[in-house]
Amino acid sequence: MTGIPGVGKTTVLNELKDLAKQNRVNLTVMNFGTIMNEITRELGKDMNRDEMREQGIETQRKLQELAANEISNRAGQGTVVVDTHMFVRTSVGMWAGLPQNVLQKLSPRLFVLVEAEPEQIARRRQSDTDRKRDMTLAEDIRFDLEWSRATAAASAVATGAPVKVIRNDAGRQKQAAQELFEAIRKLVGT
Ligand code: AP5
Repeated sequence: MTGIPGVGKTTVLNELKDLAKQNRVNLTVMNFGTIMNEITRELGKDMNRDEMREQGIETQRKLQELAANEISNRAGQGTVVVDTHMFVRTSVGMWAGLPQNVLQKLSPRLFVLVEAEPEQIARRRQSDTDRKRDMTLAEDIRFDLEWSRATAAASAVATGAPVKVIRNDAGRQKQAAQELFEAIRKLVGT
């Protein structure tokens, strides 16, 4: 499950967890950034989740690989949904969140792109005062949405897994979660 910062991934996934519980579907959500952050703490570094993308690219690459290993180790029975990013804006450029080595470890069966109107995303970022968000210009957000689609297409070709685009329009997080839930059900046959 991917989407640019502030598009509402975590909000939709919270609704998804409720749906899974109501329908007695065994589903676990893991947040890639949270696991990277736990690993940084275990390594004795104290940084918040918004500081990770400001680290040197080699540091991020190592953390990324360790997090992918951890997710693969933690995955048990049932469906695992990974809350993550198609790419991360770093100081040296757009960097893949799911490069080949990570895809090999995670073996995704479906890629989900969560999208919303750029102006909505900008407003959501501005309202999240507890986070250190990147730029909020609608034209930059539009570029990031396009880059996400391009990266998703590359991931689909590399793995053979389909890509589903889900809209998370204002106030429609429950509908977005329902759409995702139906797709998962079709995929796993429950
Ligand atoms: P992560 O924690 O995923 O950061 P993020 O993308 O900023 O995630 P958020 O949870 O803040 O945003 P969201 O899209 O989930 O939106 P939210 O639901 O909060 O990642 C942190 C870091 O980890 C990354 O920066 C990177 O460094 C690293 N990382 C992660 N994956 C990586 C990978 N694969 N490789 C390398 N590094 C990786 O919603 C935002 C706001 O909008 C909220 O106020 C919410 O209430 C509101 N909202 C949401 N939906 C709606 C709606 N439908 N209507 C109205 N309001 C809504």
